[in-house]
Amino acid sequence: MSHPNRVGRGDDRAHPSHRAAVVDGLGAWLPERVVDNHELASVLDTSDEWIRSRTGIGTRHLVAAGESTSDLAVEAGRRALKSAGTARVDAVVLATSTPDRSCPATAPEVASRLGLGGVAAFDVAAVCTGFVYALRVATGLVATGCDSVLVIGADTFSTILDPADRTTRAIFGDGAGAVTVRAGSPGEPGALLGFDLGSDGELADLIAVDAGGSRQRSSGVPAAERDHYFAMDGKPVFRHAVLRMSESTRAVRAAVGWDAADRLVAHQANARILAAVGEQLDLADEQVVRNLDRVGNTVAASIPVALADAVVDGALRPGHRTLLCGFGGGLTWGSAALVWPDLTVEAPPRRLP
Ligand code: UT7
Repeated sequence: MSHPNRVGRGDDRAHPSHRAAVVDGLGAWLPERVVDNHELASVLDTSDEWIRSRTGIGTRHLVAAGESTSDLAVEAGRRALKSAGTARVDAVVLATSTPDRSCPATAPEVASRLGLGGVAAFDVAAVCTGFVYALRVATGLVATGCDSVLVIGADTFSTILDPADRTTRAIFGDGAGAVTVRAGSPGEPGALLGFDLGSDGELADLIAVDAGGSRQRSSGVPAAERDHYFAMDGKPVFRHAVLRMSESTRAVRAAVGWDAADRLVAHQANARILAAVGEQLDLADEQVVRNLDRVGNTVAASIPVALADAVVDGALRPGHRTLLCGFGGGLTWGSAALVWPDLTVEAPPRRLP
């Protein structure tokens, strides 16, 4: 695809500050299996009523045995490339906290399976904020010479959940979403206009998998089975999510000089968090994009899957001043601002349970 505003490599080196990263493709993919709240309630002490009223979630897609993060990432990446009308990018950045293996990174395999040749490919680990962090990294790559970058958020948290933990099993789903960004100018629709990123490592214990890392391995003490599972202290995480997401979105909105935004596409962790953040931004209900009823919390995939759903449903339209916002383990948080561009997006798979 030819981009009239594309800045060539030579121009970039001369005028790096004039290159903006412009979103020009979007795709999402969800695994085939759909599990509704009633199915969860048949194996755990929970109910459709509790899950819906406390989280807003109705169904989630889960990987089948043997299916992994790269499988979902490849499908989402393929759709984003198709949406952009290109078969080539200069780099692949994959946001994930559930890589196929703890070493090496999953991105190189995803790049190969997409036929992208020997391009730079690496993972970014910022849990549910991973996609926004990866977008920021891609913006830097574009500013310093890459003409295009594929940014994927993909996670399969169902593979690390404690089968007996009714809270986390109610919340998380698997999925992948991706965008392409290309070099362009800041005045174009789709240009990433500003970011606000942050972290608080003092609260790292609130969301964690204790086993499998260097701290546990070097202790010489074998991990208990439960230590391999994801654990979250939901109540304080909820409070920090509302605070940090509200602060971060307001900061990026001010940084780009908007008096108001038209749409918030935020991490789909809990409908009550989305409502609270939307209120802080003076947004009406319909301006806050929601798809968690159908997919739950898909971690790094959450924002791009919500973007794809919103474009397909008509909730997000060209020209909308759009804020993206992620929050999650680390703790980490991050926001971005862009005017939504005119993209052709295939609907993510929607199957009834
Ligand atoms: O994605 C990264 C960021 N993550 C988040 O933003 C998640 C933020 N946290 C949350 O969304 C909420 O804290 C949860 C949805 C995780 C939990 O909701 P809550 O309203 O904070 O519930 P709670 O943990 O205070 O639990 C209230 C009660 C407890 O029972 P008791 O102690 O009052 O008898 C829980 O044991 O609800 C119980 N409970 C459940 N009951 C039925 C917890 N999970 C379930 C369940 N079904 N699935």
